[in-house]
Amino acid sequence: MSHDAKKDTLRHRKAPIEMSPDEFRTAGHRLVDDIARLLGSIRERPVNVDESPGELCALLPQGSLPDEGSEPSKLLEEVTSLLFQHSLFNGHPRFYGYITSAAAPIGALADLLAASVNPNVGGWQLSPLASEIEKQSIRWIADMIGFPTGGGGLFVSGGNMANFVCFLAARRAKAPWDICREGMTKADGRMLVYATNETHTWIQKAMSLFGHGHEAIRTIPIDKNLSADIESLHKEIEDDRRRGDHPFLIIGSAGTVSTGAVDPLADMAAVAREYDLWLHVDGAYGALAACLPDASADLTGLSEADSVAVDPHKWLYTPLEAGCVLVRDPAALQNAFSYKPPYYHFATEDESRTNFYEYGLQNSRGFRALKVWLGLRQVGRQGYVKMIGDDIRLAKEMYRLVDADADFEAFTQSLSITTFRYVPQDLTPGTERVERYLSELNNAVLTRLKASGESFLSNAIVDGKFLLRGCIVNFRTSLEDIEALPDIIRRHAQALDAEMRPKDL
Ligand SMILES: Cc1ncc(COP(=O)(O)O)c(C=O)c1O
Repeated sequence: MSHDAKKDTLRHRKAPIEMSPDEFRTAGHRLVDDIARLLGSIRERPVNVDESPGELCALLPQGSLPDEGSEPSKLLEEVTSLLFQHSLFNGHPRFYGYITSAAAPIGALADLLAASVNPNVGGWQLSPLASEIEKQSIRWIADMIGFPTGGGGLFVSGGNMANFVCFLAARRAKAPWDICREGMTKADGRMLVYATNETHTWIQKAMSLFGHGHEAIRTIPIDKNLSADIESLHKEIEDDRRRGDHPFLIIGSAGTVSTGAVDPLADMAAVAREYDLWLHVDGAYGALAACLPDASADLTGLSEADSVAVDPHKWLYTPLEAGCVLVRDPAALQNAFSYKPPYYHFATEDESRTNFYEYGLQNSRGFRALKVWLGLRQVGRQGYVKMIGDDIRLAKEMYRLVDADADFEAFTQSLSITTFRYVPQDLTPGTERVERYLSELNNAVLTRLKASGESFLSNAIVDGKFLLRGCIVNFRTSLEDIEALPDIIRRHAQALDAEMRPKDL
């Protein structure tokens, strides 16, 4: 190609990734129609598909990256059909696994819009309106759970990241020296954190990633409700201070990942105040239940924390990913995360122009706030009070049903999590052999249930027992779905018991 011809192609550049408005409209309309069909048929579909990695790989293009591209509308058609046939649907009314919610449809539309405008919500100048929408959403979430609205906050990818950000803000605020400048090398005693064994594993990740080590986690004993024992917490802090260590952080859970247990958060806040420590509440799952009029005093005690992690992608039903950081002191995040590089040009030093890169770990950031903000506006506070309240009522109904059924043993019920197990009526739990068998049997029941596509539970281990665990963060689940569950499990469990039971048991 001649030099002039090359220049001409640049002058009339046609980038292969561009779509014309007409192409976009046609492909987009079709996609939206297909998604609407999925929403209309989700109840009739299996919750899950039981396919191996090999079977799934065989569905993808084989070989190396193709040299030439393909037509976007064809690609979208193909991948839509693949995803609809080969996915686990956490938006299915009978999905009660882990703490993964059904996604609000408005969030899907919001993501399309957010990606189309594509603001970089790291800097205000790159995302003026998007930054203001994020600030407003953060204030609304704080207000919804009774946390002060004048603090700081931002959206991150999820619960782990929200907890990490709060951890780092706490460490910056409470380290006895300038941790950002001098790091951990100055430590003449260990910087200790206090948490129960029911705390999510983000804490182990944080302690190893941020240079403290797992041994700097002091385990707070738990009571019969699986929540923190305050007397023991006092004593441990006293003992550690006497030894010359540096306690700096107490972690409370507003809904543990396993059973939904809530720590006595107001009591923990009082201990934190007494010893000048930071109280962080991991409310990734349960903090949003503090908006309910009948929320427990333990839960509403989160209003006294220094920071709270909340996951909109759990109980605001925001599509993945959306986690939220809330801190009481508006300066705490900037103290830990703000650097002003010379290559950022800010026309004015206007404090009201929030640059979110100064508040957390990320630099460039997407417009997660839009899907959260639109969900909040679509249903308002009362909409969430109703949906979260219904989820809890359904989980209680699950507990009541298995408790009243002679084939089941009910264990725990807190927030929207219920744990139980199948126990054949001719077996008496308690001896080591029977307990071991019951754990094996319930483990196998769970595997078979998930493979069946009829319903999806996960598990919890309580007192060494393997339990089935239903967690309802699903606005599509109805009473009929919950009522169907015992019989579905019983059918699989009876078949498995006949296959698995040792002859001499
Ligand atoms: C209490 C709690 N904290 C943290 C997390 C981690 O959240 P994510 O998976 O969004 O990172 C979870 C997840 O279930 C959780 O339940």
